[in-house]
Amino acid sequence: MELKPGLSAFITGGGSGIGKAIALALAKKGIFLTIVDFAEERGKEVASLAEKDISKFHSGLKFPPAQFVWCDVTNTSDITAAFAKHLDTYGGLDICINSAGISSSIPFKDDKTNSWRHTINVNLIAVIDCTRLAIETMLSGRRPGVIINLGSASGLYPMYMDPIYSGSKGGVVLFTRSLVPYKRQGIRVNVLCPEFVQTDMGLKVDPKFIDITGGFLHMEMVIDGAFELIQNESKAGSCLWVSKRRGMEYWPTPTEEAKYLVKSSNARKRYSNITKYNIQLPQSYEKIVVHTLNHNFRAATSIVRTQFKLPIGPHDVLLKVIYAGVNASDVNFSSGRYFGGSDQELSARLPFDAGFEAVGLIAAVGASVNDLKVGTPAAIMTFGGYAQFVKVPSKHILPVPEPRPEVVAMLTSGLTASIAFEKAAQMDSGKVVLVTAAAGGTGQFAVQLAKLAGNKVVATCGGQEKAALLKEMGVDRVIDYKAENIKAVLKKEFPKGVDIVYESVGGEMFDLCLNALAVYGRLIVIGMISQYQGEHGWKPLNYTGLCEKILAKSQTVVGFFLVQYSHLWQQHLDSLFQLFASKKLQVNLDPKKFLGLGSVADAVEYLHSGKSAGKVVVCIDPSFDQQMSKM
Ligand SMILES: NC(=O)c1ccc[n+]([C@@H]2O[C@H](COP(=O)([O-])OP(=O)(O)OC[C@H]3O[C@@H](n4cnc5c(N)ncnc54)[C@H](OP(=O)(O)O)[C@@H]3O)[C@@H](O)[C@H]2O)c1
Ligand SMILES: *[C@@H]1O[C@H](CO)[C@@H](O)[C@H](O)[C@H]1NC(C)=O
Ligand SMILES: *[C@@H]1O[C@H](CO)[C@@H](O)[C@H](O)[C@H]1NC(C)=O
Ligand SMILES: *[C@@H]1O[C@H](CO)[C@@H](O)[C@H](O)[C@H]1NC(C)=O
Ligand SMILES: *[C@@H]1O[C@H](CO)[C@@H](O)[C@H](O)[C@H]1NC(C)=O
Ligand SMILES: *[C@@H]1O[C@H](CO)[C@@H](O)[C@H](O)[C@H]1NC(C)=O
Ligand SMILES: *[C@@H]1O[C@H](CO)[C@@H](O)[C@H](O)[C@H]1NC(C)=O
Repeated sequence: MELKPGLSAFITGGGSGIGKAIALALAKKGIFLTIVDFAEERGKEVASLAEKDISKFHSGLKFPPAQFVWCDVTNTSDITAAFAKHLDTYGGLDICINSAGISSSIPFKDDKTNSWRHTINVNLIAVIDCTRLAIETMLSGRRPGVIINLGSASGLYPMYMDPIYSGSKGGVVLFTRSLVPYKRQGIRVNVLCPEFVQTDMGLKVDPKFIDITGGFLHMEMVIDGAFELIQNESKAGSCLWVSKRRGMEYWPTPTEEAKYLVKSSNARKRYSNITKYNIQLPQSYEKIVVHTLNHNFRAATSIVRTQFKLPIGPHDVLLKVIYAGVNASDVNFSSGRYFGGSDQELSARLPFDAGFEAVGLIAAVGASVNDLKVGTPAAIMTFGGYAQFVKVPSKHILPVPEPRPEVVAMLTSGLTASIAFEKAAQMDSGKVVLVTAAAGGTGQFAVQLAKLAGNKVVATCGGQEKAALLKEMGVDRVIDYKAENIKAVLKKEFPKGVDIVYESVGGEMFDLCLNALAVYGRLIVIGMISQYQGEHGWKPLNYTGLCEKILAKSQTVVGFFLVQYSHLWQQHLDSLFQLFASKKLQVNLDPKKFLGLGSVADAVEYLHSGKSAGKVVVCIDPSFDQQMSKM
């Protein structure tokens, strides 16, 4: 923030010491001031001194360039009124300096009157309260703001002669450092930690102690520190230590910070480096919308042309879609089943965007998105993937190394297997893992991941072709239920039972799996596809004796729903892609080509025809597909 005439600042403890010095320095820049203090005479004096300087920058003001407001900062209603008065006089708040502070008068262990509580109230509680009110006031003015809380060097290291003071300032330091996220709303909160300055408070300190710290710090350095925290836009949650010996130094140092910050597994940073693709934004783009609620996808949807609304929102990202995934639930989505509610409520949502999953390139980022770059490949698992471009909140973007169609298959199906094995199954190695519907979308990932982790894998499926595919993927024992009885095979070949079951069939299969579970076994409920039939959703089953069974064998039956693990999507997508890139993981795409938005309805119908094998993907931008295949 540039210190320029016309801004306004609110300063607690502005009647003396550091608060006064900063106030007068701001006045010399023509900044309007509200001086808040408990000492009326001194506060008024500062306001009138400041007034002379501020007036040099302005003429014909209809309000006082500086005002004094008497206030006990520990009294919330007093400070609330003071902030309101500031807003009323100056129409906004740009800078807030919380400088009011006191030291303890007696050692805390001899403190029979509890006066130490007052020290904490003034030094810490009031700072929290004033920070809260300052943020509120700044947001109401819709302007960026800077708050500086006065910590102290004794908030960074202990001060044996006044543990209460040191404790309160340590609190201010970590409170302020925790406020980094407000930067996103345009508000930077920083803490300034000077060593001893020759103020009323500093003069109370034992001179011997001042000497060993190198003597009193000059007030000019404190002001320089405050100005740097105000002016440098990169400072948010920053803690600036100012000492006579070492000058200005940010705390913690990068070395200290590296010790406690887990080195970011932040994919956004890692991917900031990869080859960017060139992207041209056209004037308009096409997308598929559901205009009529209908289970027939073709009848329910149409392609519409839309103008870009630029610029996009500050936290949004525009993704150019290259491949979109076809999902069995697309037809349930177009019939409105995903939203629920009355027919009237459903119709009110129309038209809405279709498509569940896509991969493409970042085509534009909002003003506040600084960890994603245009041209980076990325995936999404949000509605609206059947479009040439889709706008999504930045947090939904999953960067990937390459915009490949296989990524689309990795999303729902791959992530479910990967995360469910880690979190729900707690899978390690050397176990027997049973996967049902193993040739299906998620089943294929499950068998391969279980195998890669070093387990013996048993897989069920219906049909020779599927059985052959599973064999090729390294499954140890494939049970084709059209040819063999699953129960008999398990009983004979795995008499001790299986340790982990990845179960997505439900109904009788669930019962069968439960009965085949070993002592300490874990059965993961991924879905119950056999129960989904019928226009009226699925039938919940009764599981008589379930508790008795799992009790007798110390077993676990655990549900898994991908949506509840979104915080792990990026990490698991990264490792799936790595496995795929290093050819350890096979991703099966259906060989049939669907090109352009116009072929989405064909692709949806193809999926439901039962002829597909592997993930059905539509190439939304065929020209990109051609470029890639030439490379
Ligand atoms: N782990 C698994 O794999 C699995 C899967 C499915 C079912 N099950 C078990 O099978 C049973 C039925 O399942 P569901 O899917 O049909 O469940 P559901 O539809 O959610 O019904 C659960 C029933 O339990 C009753 N209930 C809930 N909390 C209760 C409480 N504190 N005390 C007494 N009754 C309570 C409810 O009746 P009110 O709310 O009207 O009181 C409700 O009728 C449940 O025991 C469930 O845990 C287990
Ligand atoms: C806070 O101040 C107001 C008015 O200045 C006063 O009425 C109130 O009693 C004070 N509250 C406390 C807790 O001291
Ligand atoms: C702001 O601080 C950063 C980090 O300490 C520094 O690199 C940069 O030069 C500073 N900017 C200005 C304008 O002083
Ligand atoms: C960027 O790429 C270089 C060379 O490939 C690599 O050494 C560096 O670590 C990468 N940086 C990031 C942030 O990934
Ligand atoms: C389709 O998408 C939904 C929602 O993301 C997901 O729950 C479901 O598992 C997906 N189905 C397939 C076959 O990918
Ligand atoms: C989704 O639609 C299919 C095809 O009509 C139907 O068989 C299935 O029961 C529906 N699933 C859900 C969860 O509504
Ligand atoms: C489950 O048990 C309840 C209560 O005994 C019964 O009303 C219901 O019909 C049973 N459902 C099934 C699918 O057997």
